[in-house]
Amino acid sequence: MENVKIGDIELKGRVVLGPMAGVTTLPYREFMKPFGVALSYSEMISDCGLYYSNKKTLTYFRTSKKDRPVGLQLFGFDFHNTERAIEILEEYADYDVLDLNFGCPVPKVTKTGAGSAWMKRPQEMYEYTRAVVAKSHKPVTAKMRLGWDQEHINVVELAHLLEQAGVKMITIHARTSTQGYAGTPDFSKIQDLGNDLSIPLCVSGDIYTPEDALQAMKQTGAKMVMVARGGLGNPELITNINRVLNGENPLPSPSVSQDADYALTFAKMLCDYLGERDGAMMLRGLLPHFFSGFPGYKKIRAEISMNIRSYDDIQRILNGIRNRNKL
Ligand SMILES: Cc1cc2nc3c(=O)[nH]c(=O)nc-3n(C[C@H](O)[C@H](O)[C@H](O)COP(=O)(O)O)c2cc1C
Repeated sequence: MENVKIGDIELKGRVVLGPMAGVTTLPYREFMKPFGVALSYSEMISDCGLYYSNKKTLTYFRTSKKDRPVGLQLFGFDFHNTERAIEILEEYADYDVLDLNFGCPVPKVTKTGAGSAWMKRPQEMYEYTRAVVAKSHKPVTAKMRLGWDQEHINVVELAHLLEQAGVKMITIHARTSTQGYAGTPDFSKIQDLGNDLSIPLCVSGDIYTPEDALQAMKQTGAKMVMVARGGLGNPELITNINRVLNGENPLPSPSVSQDADYALTFAKMLCDYLGERDGAMMLRGLLPHFFSGFPGYKKIRAEISMNIRSYDDIQRILNGIRNRNKL
């Protein structure tokens, strides 16, 4: 299979790691990368947060050699702020792609006119994107949804506008903004769109198995597929999508011990990065995913989400899970 390019950047593989606020930190991206991620995205970064040097926002653009190629995703509502944010990123961050968030459904964001609220204003969205493309020295990509709601599905029109504005890849999360993250994604609304665009299309929405990926790509003509929630605790999903796309069989399911090893490796990376206390707090929500579907999952989840405060706690609990399942 031919490699897809974003501008001059050649992507190895067809799986993009989707941006997830509160999840896709640098260590998460570094942990997932070796499983076959072609391109990762940071969680969304507020252009105003950069502009006003919000301390937390400034940590969002950290990347590393291992992390690349990586896209940093900005959200904003006014080119004046975005322009300054791009200058800051270009001065202080190492990254490959700049992504524009036109998909966030959270009211706190959309009420300012940012995120998916742009989809209600096609002409403004076009002009904003054109200005960003002209400003950025990195290739620009964009991520959006099907439309604001079922009565306003305008994704196809917007995809063509974004292409004209100069973006180098478009990702579509096949839900409307009002659907949030629930309900079934509807790829029929972007049927064959990938074949009508001159730039690569990436599709997103409920990708939990290689078959989900293949089906969504086939139906839409997308060259790339985005893994978001499906990759939580299941990094081999990315390997398996690439394998199946290459005509190979997926790997056998990992053993409990293998999953515990993955969880521990990730826990160590996150604790090293955030510090033990903050790392443990974040891991309370993330580690249980590694054991979903296991017998006794509810107990494991409760144990992890209530009891971990340090890396030692994590090691003890994960070893317990490993040993229990050996019996
Ligand atoms: C907790 C969470 C945070 C997310 N944060 C972002 C974000 O910062 N930027 C973005 O473009 N999409 C974000 N998304 C959307 C995902 O990238 C993805 O498009 C969406 O979850 C659909 O894919 P899935 O159904 O396979 O999870 C987020 C999704 C979740 C669940």
